[in-house]
Amino acid sequence: MIRFEHVGLRYGIGPEVLSDIDFALEPGSFHFLTGPSGAGKTSLLSLMYLGLMPTRGLVTMFGQNINGLKRAQLAPIRQRIGVVFQDFRLLNHMSAFDNVALPLRIQGKSEKEIKNNVHELLEWVGLGEHMHVLPSTMSGGQQQRIAIARAVITRPRLLLADEPTGNLDDEIGFRLMTLFDQLNRMGTTILIATHDQNMIERFGHTKLILDDGKIYAEDPKHWLAKKIEGVF
Ligand SMILES: Nc1ncnc2c1ncn2[C@@H]1O[C@H](COP(=O)(O)OP(=O)(O)OP(=O)(O)O)[C@@H](O)[C@H]1O
Ligand SMILES: [Mg+2]
Repeated sequence: MIRFEHVGLRYGIGPEVLSDIDFALEPGSFHFLTGPSGAGKTSLLSLMYLGLMPTRGLVTMFGQNINGLKRAQLAPIRQRIGVVFQDFRLLNHMSAFDNVALPLRIQGKSEKEIKNNVHELLEWVGLGEHMHVLPSTMSGGQQQRIAIARAVITRPRLLLADEPTGNLDDEIGFRLMTLFDQLNRMGTTILIATHDQNMIERFGHTKLILDDGKIYAEDPKHWLAKKIEGVF
């Protein structure tokens, strides 16, 4: 469904930040993306939500080769993808409610359906009391929860989340991870960039590791085995 073949990326005339990226995500899979700061996690996610185009190689999204697609042809692909940005990218002149409602409004859903869905989700992420507040007056963790709600409200086919629990305490972070797990069980393919090793071990999905411009997969069975070896 999603495939990168020999993909490279450079910004302007700078060095390649990603080189020879080769991997595929099967429909309905759940992966963590990890790697040191500056390894290129955010850059890789940008290629996946079509915010950047690769400087070389082949990117296939939902079975479609994206190289050479026109802007109008990219829009329907983007609409199938929910993104939680590392820097949130909320609209600060709109309330939390309106930020989360926006993707549903773009899809032309009725105001009644929007109200029900947005209320339920904002309650669930613990922001029931803050629906009509402007994001700029909220804490980092609260803004992060709005960004997550906005990304999942349409039940996208692919969810990309960049450090989505970075500003949350353990309890609410765990709660939001269970939200991603539920979404995954309903069929959404998920890729989460995170430094949070506890979260990775707790949820045990395959880890994709970015290092030195390349990507490696590490099966949970493999690192669990390594961990057990370390203990005994
Ligand atoms: N807009 C940009 N222009 C030029 N260079 C960039 C740009 N964005 C990222 N880079 C460079 O690309 C490399 C990868 O950055 P990226 O943000 O993708 O890493 P990351 O793995 O997400 O890091 P972090 O864990 O700190 O979020 C870094 O060397 C960074 O300096
Ligand atoms: Mg990043």
